[in-house]
Amino acid sequence: MILVTGGAGFIGSNFIREWLMHSNETVINLDKLTYAGNLQNLASISNDSRYIFIQGDIGCQELVSGLLEQYCPRAVINLAAESHVDRSIHGPGEFIQTNIVGTFQLLETVHAHWLTLDGQAKCGFRFLHVSTDEVFGSLESEEAAFTETHRYQPSSPYSASKASSDHLVNAYHKTYGLPTLMTNCSNNYGPYQFPEKLIPLMITNALVGKAMPVYGDGRQIRDWLYVSDHCSALRRVLETGRPGETYNIGGWNEKRNIDIVQTICALLQELVVPSPVGDYHKLITYVADRPGHDTRYAIDARKIERELNWKPAETFDSGIRKTVQWYLDNQDWIASVQTGSYRQWIDQHYGRSVHENTAVR
Ligand code: NAD
Ligand code: DAU
Repeated sequence: MILVTGGAGFIGSNFIREWLMHSNETVINLDKLTYAGNLQNLASISNDSRYIFIQGDIGCQELVSGLLEQYCPRAVINLAAESHVDRSIHGPGEFIQTNIVGTFQLLETVHAHWLTLDGQAKCGFRFLHVSTDEVFGSLESEEAAFTETHRYQPSSPYSASKASSDHLVNAYHKTYGLPTLMTNCSNNYGPYQFPEKLIPLMITNALVGKAMPVYGDGRQIRDWLYVSDHCSALRRVLETGRPGETYNIGGWNEKRNIDIVQTICALLQELVVPSPVGDYHKLITYVADRPGHDTRYAIDARKIERELNWKPAETFDSGIRKTVQWYLDNQDWIASVQTGSYRQWIDQHYGRSVHENTAVR
């Protein structure tokens, strides 16, 4: 079996559902259930005998060592993290705690457990740490995409905390020989993404006629990957990646934020007929820029393509269409995650003026 941390979040829940479609191996999901963790994301497999959920913190060494001893998983896939850049700017403490201290404590626990193994269990064991392209900082428009050896230059408390955790993971490999694998992936999108991130925020706001808040001039570039493609890459790295190696994962889909938002408006115009809010494009609203906003990310994914024979299955056009359709089909899910604490965040971060209903008819 395998142990996944952060499996109730966006990527983790997609990973677990897809894992069970591709394998008969049991998955243990260890998740603290922060605001971003939602067991509804896993409702379709909650009764599957191959799925075990444990609520808890990756930093709780007693709990984690008990789980490792009891279940003896062949791999740990670490997806647990605080993941939202804007929240890290408002309050970095939780990011330091989970992404740095929590990862350190998890490494300590996993390392101690790994030392008790022998034979195939020991040499086949893997610790897969899921990281981000944000650790590399920002690219100028003419610069080549990030390779695995690009220097680390994080800009936000979030990316600095992820960079720090990456260094710890590499140190546990180099110093103690722990068989680690690391991935640095670009921006994911798809079903079950919490509506604080660009794409689901824009879709969910537009559906109720609220402003679509674009930071600064909207010309910042991100490299987008449909979440299933990230999950298939993680499975491939787990099975055939070489311990101690890092693999960049990306979809070769560099897009300006404003172009993404325009695409969402166009898709909604096509798919929601008649439109209850008139022209969605009129909802686009430029707001104050994110402090320290990285202007461009781009992933060079040739290593994973060449060495592990992985390629994404979705184009951006197919993935964004599926995503918009998923949010249209799952409005109960949207309503259920937009709880009181979510609304509080929106008011705190964007201010009431942008987010009060600004329906255009
Ligand atoms: P998410 O915020 O949707 O989910 C994070 C999950 O981790 C939640 O279920 C939360 O409850 C859980 N969690 C948080 N702190 C925990 C703790 N201390 N112990 C146990 N569980 C805890 O995040 P996501 O977008 O699914 O990202 C997952 C991972 O992938 C993160 O490490 C993130 O840095 C990385 N990543 C994300 C993206 C992206 O575009 N979303 C891209 C590249 C890498
Ligand atoms: O690159 C990988 C990273 O992608 C992951 O490591 C992070 O966990 C994930 O959150 C994401 O980080 P970003 O900061 O790129 O994602 P976000 O969706 O917050 O923002 C994407 C872009 O859209 C960014 O340039 C900021 C902009 N934006 C975002 C929001 C929420 C807006 O213009 N308006 C908004 O309201």
